[in-house]
Amino acid sequence: MPTSDIGLNKTLAGLGVTEPAQVTARFADVRAQFDRHFETVHDESEWKIFRDRWLGRKSGVLTLITDNWLKPATPELKRVVGQELNTLRAHVETIIEERRAAIEAGGESAAMARERVDLSLPGVIRPVGSPHLIRQVFQEIEDIFFSIGFSVVEGPEIETPYYNFEALNIPEFHPVRDDMDTFYLDLPKGAPEPLLLRTHTSPMQIRTMEKRQPPVRVIVPGKVYRRDNPDATHSFIFHQVEGLAVDTDITFCDFTGTIEYFVKQFFGPGVKTRFRPSYFPFTEPSVEFDVSCIFCGGSGTAAGGGNCSKCKGAGWIELFGAGMVDPAVYGFVKYDAKKVSGFAFGMGIDRLAMLKYGIDDIQVFFQNDVRFLRQFP
Ligand code: FA5
Repeated sequence: MPTSDIGLNKTLAGLGVTEPAQVTARFADVRAQFDRHFETVHDESEWKIFRDRWLGRKSGVLTLITDNWLKPATPELKRVVGQELNTLRAHVETIIEERRAAIEAGGESAAMARERVDLSLPGVIRPVGSPHLIRQVFQEIEDIFFSIGFSVVEGPEIETPYYNFEALNIPEFHPVRDDMDTFYLDLPKGAPEPLLLRTHTSPMQIRTMEKRQPPVRVIVPGKVYRRDNPDATHSFIFHQVEGLAVDTDITFCDFTGTIEYFVKQFFGPGVKTRFRPSYFPFTEPSVEFDVSCIFCGGSGTAAGGGNCSKCKGAGWIELFGAGMVDPAVYGFVKYDAKKVSGFAFGMGIDRLAMLKYGIDDIQVFFQNDVRFLRQFP
């Protein structure tokens, strides 16, 4: 915007201005030009040019007016030029300051808009996970036994041979120890006794009876260990739930009724059950408990013909060992075997879970493959 258009480089005399009215008209032109210029100022760099152009000390418009119009003005015009210049200066300074504030505020709100946290955006989803299937099955079993008056106790995974074997009527060199070979801890020389990883949850029968007097009704969920070679149904670490009920008049009928109630609650009412004679040193009589095969409905025949691969054509699947507590065991915990009786059972939880949820390889429980785990949210 050339300032020469409005004659800033000339004196008023040089512009032919001799009357006060002409002075006022000249200032009106300057102000109009300022207002037009002001409309084009939108950001900080435009504002700086604008400010220098009008207020610049050496060649700003107001300096030029002072030098070229005011100072050389005739005494007749000096007053009116001075007044007009003051009015113009006030207008220019006010507007320039207002525009600076507006640009600054606009910058701030733009920055705020840039930095604003948009609460409507979906957050980063952190998967929460869910209990492992084995943990879920523990919970199902606990709920069933809670409902018939059992409580939960837990015990150490590192045991002494006394609790794991001897107090369960399994003396040293008893052949049944072969089935439960386990991992022994490396202990410093002179340690009072060997320590092992428990092979079953049955030691908790002893620990519970040592602490409590009958009536006792407990279940014991937990991890157990054996030196078994891994295959589809064996792992060297697996899970059991022990059950123990001891009172003054518990009979074999209480035992079968409790077990059948549990199995029907766990697998559903359609499942058939049976007991087979078995042997455990700490129960007498001892049984193995079978359920009708849930894969072939107990027929022993696979859907496409041929033997059912899960029960190998038997129509039955072995679930767990159990029996009436052997009176010899009461001797270890100072119960009077003539006054009390009871039953105990020990279920393999991994195999129960496999049966109920149709899983054909126990190893998947320990591989932590989320594709498997996600199927049981
Ligand atoms: C026992 O462990 C006895 N303590 C059970 C018992 C308790 C009997 C109370 C009488 C009174 P057994 O060795 O059969 O019994 O093991 C019980 C269950 O653990 C088996 O039926 C099976 O389901 C499971 N099991 C055994 N070995 C393994 C293994 N290596 N991997 C996965 N599950 C196993």
